[in-house]
Amino acid sequence: MKIKISPSILSADFARLGDAVAEAEAAGADWIHVDVMDGEFVPNITIGIPVVAALRKITKLPLDVHLMIVKPERYAAAFVDAGANYVTVHVEAATHLHRTLDSIRERGAHPGVTLNPATSVSALEEALPYADLVLVMSVNPGFGGQRYIPTSAAKVAAIRKRLDDRGLWGVDLEVDGGVTPATIGELVSAGANVFVAGAAVFNSSASVADNIAALRASAQNAATTR
Ligand code: DX5
Ligand code: ZN
Repeated sequence: MKIKISPSILSADFARLGDAVAEAEAAGADWIHVDVMDGEFVPNITIGIPVVAALRKITKLPLDVHLMIVKPERYAAAFVDAGANYVTVHVEAATHLHRTLDSIRERGAHPGVTLNPATSVSALEEALPYADLVLVMSVNPGFGGQRYIPTSAAKVAAIRKRLDDRGLWGVDLEVDGGVTPATIGELVSAGANVFVAGAAVFNSSASVADNIAALRASAQNAATTR
């Protein structure tokens, strides 16, 4: 599968968010990752529906919306209507997960499902045929710039195997948290194909274009040796 980079705007300067997204798009980003936090599911509050609607007007890239909110079924449709292309919900937060995934698809977006680092892969099992995207959290959600949890690669491999065993070859397998040029390689080798990166893309040590290129180079390197 094609390797995709989804820069997380959580690490961008919110005072110039449109410019940051335009910069990422010009630099060859594949998707734009939007982290929605409610202060309850995670200990932080970020942005919501109006920001997705505003970004929809300034970028052609798919908006990859990660809902870190309790009861995501309350707002999933509104995020689709605002222009989200992917809406990803946590298994820990959605009681009627199947219904929520179905409703996202019916509304016109790709349903995604995600799980926290301490949640077992088995929690995904019944939802896999109903998702277009599986997101593995490789940090505890809530903040950008945290350290990658090393057991995440084994989790990715276990999910990739389940997808393969069930013939679900079209499902994107995404990783979020602590993705850098140093960690992306083992995740590619484990079978992930979409990579969220916040601090590794929006930082002061290099340009967004150079940072995305560095991620892609490390990913490509691992892909050829896979
Ligand atoms: C964490 C968010 C991530 C975050 C990743 O709760 O879901 O998307 O922005 O940031 P980095 O890449 O800096 O770990
Ligand atoms: Zn995220």
